Amino acid sequence: MRIFFAIWPSAAAASALAQWARAAQRLTGGTLTAEEKIHLTLAFLGEADHTRAIAAGRCVQAGPHALPVEEARYWRDNHIVWAGPRDTPPPLAELFKRLELALFKENFILERRPFTAHVTLIRKARAAELPPLPAIDWPVREFLLVRSKLSSTGSAYEPLERFAL
Ligand code: 2AM
Repeated sequence: MRIFFAIWPSAAAASALAQWARAAQRLTGGTLTAEEKIHLTLAFLGEADHTRAIAAGRCVQAGPHALPVEEARYWRDNHIVWAGPRDTPPPLAELFKRLELALFKENFILERRPFTAHVTLIRKARAAELPPLPAIDWPVREFLLVRSKLSSTGSAYEPLERFAL
C-alpha cells in the first residue's frame, strides 16, 4: 500500500490554512488541498510494507514542539503554493533525522533530496503575489503513518498509526 509519515494540523490550524488558501487561490488559480487533507509530509514511502514502517515509527523518540507557519511561497518548478516555517525548527529537523534513521534500520531508503518542511495548499497554481498569512498556532504532539488510497476522484488519506511525541 502507498504510505507516508506526516504531521497533521489541529482543526483550528487546518481551518486557518484552508481559509488563507481560498483567498490565495483567487489570485493563483489552481486546485486547493481539501481542509481535512492539509498536512506536512515527513517521509513519503510510496508502495511499502506498513508493518515495517510502524516498527520504525515506534522507535522514534522526539519531543513535542510548535510548528511556526511563517511564510507562504510559490514553487515555480512544480506550481505549488505552500506554507511553512521560514527555517525548519530544530526539534522538527531532529524528528525527521530520527525517523530517517529508524526507517534506514528497517531497510527503507528515502529520497536523497533534503527535507523541506512544507504544507502544500494549492496545486497547479500560477505565480502571483500571495496574501499575508494569519498567525497560526500549530502544536506538534504526534506524527502519523498514513495510507494514501488512489481513486478516480483523487486520493483519500487514512491514518494507520499515531506516534506520540
Ligand atoms: P507534496 O505535498 O509536496 O506533493 C502524500 O502524497 C504526500 O507525500 C504529499 O504531501 C506529497 O508531498 C508527499 N510526497 C513526497 N514525495 C512524493 C512522491 N514521490 N509522490 C507522491 N507524493 C509525494
